[in-house]
This record gives sequence, structure tokens and C-alpha cells, in this order.
Amino acid sequence: MKILVTGGAGFIGSCFVRLALQNPSLEIVNVDALTYAGNLENLASVADHPRYRFIKEDLCGLEGLRRIFDEAKADAVIHFAAESHVDRSIFSPQPVFETNLRGTFNLLEAMRANRVDRFIHVSTDEVYGSLEAPLEADENFPLQPSSPYSAAKAGSDLLVLGYFKTYKLPAMVTRASNNYGPYQFPEKLIPLMITNALDDKPLPVYGDGMQVRDWLYVEDHCRALLRILEKGRDGEIYNIGGNRSLPNKEVIDRILAFTGKPSSLIKTVTDRPGHDRRYALSSEKLTKETGWSPLMDFETGLKATVDWYRSNPEWVQHVKSGEYQSYYAKNYENRSHELSGIA
Ligand code: NAD
Ligand code: DAU
Repeated sequence: MKILVTGGAGFIGSCFVRLALQNPSLEIVNVDALTYAGNLENLASVADHPRYRFIKEDLCGLEGLRRIFDEAKADAVIHFAAESHVDRSIFSPQPVFETNLRGTFNLLEAMRANRVDRFIHVSTDEVYGSLEAPLEADENFPLQPSSPYSAAKAGSDLLVLGYFKTYKLPAMVTRASNNYGPYQFPEKLIPLMITNALDDKPLPVYGDGMQVRDWLYVEDHCRALLRILEKGRDGEIYNIGGNRSLPNKEVIDRILAFTGKPSSLIKTVTDRPGHDRRYALSSEKLTKETGWSPLMDFETGLKATVDWYRSNPEWVQHVKSGEYQSYYAKNYENRSHELSGIA
């Protein structure tokens, strides 16, 4: 089976590509614009693989996509490409609109002309918004997104489901919880805290740090996508959760313990506007229909992630140079006194 993935040079997409290539019956075409978050170093181990091909293309251009689809003759598409960071979506919503909505629309249009047998739209539990404990969102839970990022993801989910109903495009939507693991861009909580701690820089905690997220090891997410590709039903939504809810402060305490750094590095900073307090979701449907469940326990996965960042200082140095520096300098200037340790 030939799978065209979008956004395969990012954190989750690159994990999926590395994992999928272990299966001799899968061939991968990776279409990625290489934005600040796309990094071909994430795919160095498979760059010359005979069943792998990379194409640099921006989903925001429909003609380029059409050419790729005409030529690639893909059997399946897995759509990872997105502007994926909530904070960036708040500072600068335009690229979020362009990629998450227009890019998804273009992809759907390309597939309307060049039919595929399977399509997975990779989405997020953030579309359900913040949930009071002990609520858990199932796939029928109302959509209540809070940020430009999650609103655009919710819009793209609906667009995909609309193409299933109207054009019979064989599409599925997956909604995963917070991923962590190697190769994650250090703008997200876990890699930011690990890399700052390793460098003895401040760990910026938004507000009281008691916001709750459900943590999913990235390989568990990618295994779920492979199961859904095989066994999922067209037109369905599948939640993918890690079954491990923790307040941010507890995650940070574990990172401090694994890195051997003092809690004096923690700095409380101004809260994120519209910050969702708690995400929680049920993956019962996925488990029932495909037999999937997460394999990695959080402490083992977090320790492995800390070890990976400790062992890959060149990767960290590379992604934390250039654009990363100017992003923090520009967008955090009002809080630069609080966050001066980052840049
Ligand atoms: P990421 O930011 O690490 O990677 C995104 C990739 O998409 C990059 O390689 C980037 O170059 C590419 N890209 C961005 N805009 C593009 C465009 N216009 N055309 C082509 N390529 C483009 O993201 P991630 O964390 O790997 O997330 C992947 C997907 O999973 C996203 O759709 C995200 O919404 C979803 N998701 C992420 C998480 C998480 O915790 N990271 C959880 C649930 C769902
Ligand atoms: O829930 C799935 C979502 O998880 C994905 O759809 C998104 O792509 C992904 O970025 C992630 O969104 P979050 O906003 O939950 O992740 P982030 O790592 O940015 O933040 C996690 C929590 O940590 C959140 O409560 C905000 C807090 N935080 C984050 C950063 C970067 C801090 O306290 N300090 C920080 O510096």
C-alpha cells in the first residue's frame, strides 16, 4: 500500500513514517512544506530508504497538490500537516487559517479528483474544549474549541466529514490527546521544560500550573493510526487517548527529578489567553473496534524522552537557533523579563 502523508517532517508525522517503513508492505510519500516545525533531520534514518520519497510542497497551493496526486497514485492519505502550536496560533492566527483550513480544503479537493481508498485526518482532543472533572469526551461530545488552533482544527474536521457525506470520500477523523516523545519541537510543554532544565534555564509555568492534560506517547499514537488505517470505518471519528491525566506541575516535577535539576528553575508567568483547564477523552470506541490500547507508561516514556533530548544536543541546538530565537524575542517581548531564560 502506498501512503501519502502530509506533514511527515514534523514530530508525529516523522514518527509515523519511521514506524510505517518497518512494515515491508508499506510505501511512503511524504509531502511537507518544511515550515519552522518541519525538519528532515527527524527522518535522517530513513532518508535513503527504497520505499520512502520526500516531496517539498505547501498544501496551500492546490495546483502543486494536484500534480503530486496525479503522479503519486496513492492508495491512502494520512494528513498530519498543520500549524500545531496553540501559543503561536494566538500570537499569529493567519498561518493557522491558511494551513489548517485552506490546506485541508485543498487536500480534499485534490482527493476528489484523484480518489484514494483510505483517508485519515489527524485531529485533536482540543476540539472538545475544556471539560469539568469527571467528564470525558466521547466522539459525540459537542465541539467547543477555545483557540484559533483548535477552532481551525474543528472546522477542518467538519469539512472532512462533509466531504465524506457529500462526495463519499472514504474519510476518517482521529482526535488524539497531548503527544510527547523524541523529536518534538521544544515549543510544547514537555520538550521546552526538558531542554530548558538541561540548560539551567527558567521553566515558564502558565498561571497556577494546575491545568490537566492526558499524555500519549507518540509511538502509541502512530500505532493507533496504523490500526485505524487497517480496521477503521469510513465516516467515523476515533478518539486516541493516553489514559494518563496529569496537572502540568506534576509533569514538570517529574522532569526536574529525571534531569536532576532544582525546583527553583520554575517561574510562574502570565497565563495563556483562553487557556483550557482540562482535557479528557475516552478511547473506548477505538479499543473496542481495533483492539488498540496505549503500551507506554508515562514515567518510562518521559524518562526515555529526557534521555533522548540529553543525547541529542545538536538536534536541540539546531531547532533552537534562527527562527526559534526571533519567535521568542518578538512574541514574548511583553513577558521578556519573565522568559529571558528562553532566548
Ligand atoms: P508539528 O508542528 O511538529 O509538524 C507539522 C508539520 O506540518 C511540519 O513538518 C510542517 O513543516 C508541516 N506543515 C505545516 N504547514 C504546512 C503546509 N502548509 N503544507 C505542508 N506541510 C506543512 O506537528 P505535530 O505535533 O507533529 O502534529 C501533527 C498533527 O497532529 C497536527 O495536525 C496536529 O493538529 C495533530 N495533533 C498533535 C498533537 C500533539 O500533541 N502534538 C496531539 C493531537 C493532534
Ligand atoms: O491536546 C492535544 C494538543 O496538545 C494538540 O492538538 C496540540 O497540537 C499540542 O500543541 C498540544 O496543545 P497544548 O496547548 O495542550 O500543548 P502545550 O504543550 O502548548 O501546553 C501543554 C500545557 O502546558 C498547557 O496547559 C499550557 C502549559 N504550558 C505550555 C508551555 C509551552 C506552560 O505552562 N508553559 C509553557 O511554556
